[in-house]
Amino acid sequence: MENLLEIKDLNVIYKTDEAIVHALNGFTLSVKKGETLGLVGETGAGKTTMCLSTLRLLPDQVGEVVSGSIKYRNIDILKASKKEMLKLRGAEISMIFQDPMSGLNPVMRVGDQIKEVLNLHFPDMSPKDKDARVDEVLTLVGITPERKDQFPHQFSGGMKQRVVIAMALVAEPKLLLADEPTTALDVTIQAQILALMRELKEKFDSAMVLVTHDLGIVAEFCESVAVAYAGEIVESGTIEQVFARDKNHPYTKGLFNCIPDLTSTAPRLTPIPGYMANPRDLPKGCKFANRCAHCTEKCMAAVPEMQEVAPGHFIKCNLFEKGASGQ
Ligand SMILES: Nc1ncnc2c1ncn2[C@@H]1O[C@H](COP(=O)(O)OP(=O)(O)OP(=O)(O)O)[C@@H](O)[C@H]1O
Ligand SMILES: [Mg+2]
Repeated sequence: MENLLEIKDLNVIYKTDEAIVHALNGFTLSVKKGETLGLVGETGAGKTTMCLSTLRLLPDQVGEVVSGSIKYRNIDILKASKKEMLKLRGAEISMIFQDPMSGLNPVMRVGDQIKEVLNLHFPDMSPKDKDARVDEVLTLVGITPERKDQFPHQFSGGMKQRVVIAMALVAEPKLLLADEPTTALDVTIQAQILALMRELKEKFDSAMVLVTHDLGIVAEFCESVAVAYAGEIVESGTIEQVFARDKNHPYTKGLFNCIPDLTSTAPRLTPIPGYMANPRDLPKGCKFANRCAHCTEKCMAAVPEMQEVAPGHFIKCNLFEKGASGQ
């Protein structure tokens, strides 16, 4: 199926006073039309940086794309003009931020905030139609339209996240970047919001990148999964391929060992030993090498090649080189 978003070999740095942080290092990922892709990986892996780069919202002066490409349909995002980006954001690609408040203006009524998205993308729409559309989208996310004149602080955390989702969806984007949309919420609200997002995604036939730490959420809501580690994708494939736990990157294996398995009698979970490579001073070879039980000299010498271990299932690890024995 047609790729909607194609990120190739993306390198992104943050320049701070003390050091250069290598946030994305050869990050490659594609998202197909209508697909729901789960993007997992521990804190600092570069998940938010990938979303911000795609919308060209990296912090000014600090964040910088050094090399690589981002293509949305036939648009070269890194070369697009400011005007083109304004048209893309919200109407074609929308992002739901990790913290709902960072997407909301505290001193503006929620209905007006949603309407602002319409003002930007549908300047010719009549005020009456805009009002109707705001009511419609609020109803869709389970908020009565009578509350549209209230301010964000008058809403609970879950309600605020619903408003943010309404804003992200009001212009019916084709691609939704949902950056841990439910981490700030309690478990019951989390399930409701995810179910709602799935419903809306299907209604609008949009693709979604769902960023999460939670493999359980990925298994339940996504069709495919990509695992990020120290700024690159180390494994990707369909849910069936990756969750079969037959062939996995050693890091993905470690992630699976960190989640409780109700059918296992193992007395405790096995955390991955050590820490992620320091993004200020990355090793020359595989970035997982210092934590990997299978590490060899070859792994230390150069970044491993991506291997296709089954059609559409990719693992960036020397264990899966042609002729190697696997794990
Ligand atoms: N504005 C910034 N200035 C300097 N370094 C930054 C900045 N933003 C992110 N970083 C660094 O870039 C790397 C990638 O960060 P990013 O926020 O993309 O990770 P993440 O995968 O989204 O993590 P989390 O799961 O905690 O949200 C980290 O090492 C982080 O410390
Ligand atoms: Mg993040």
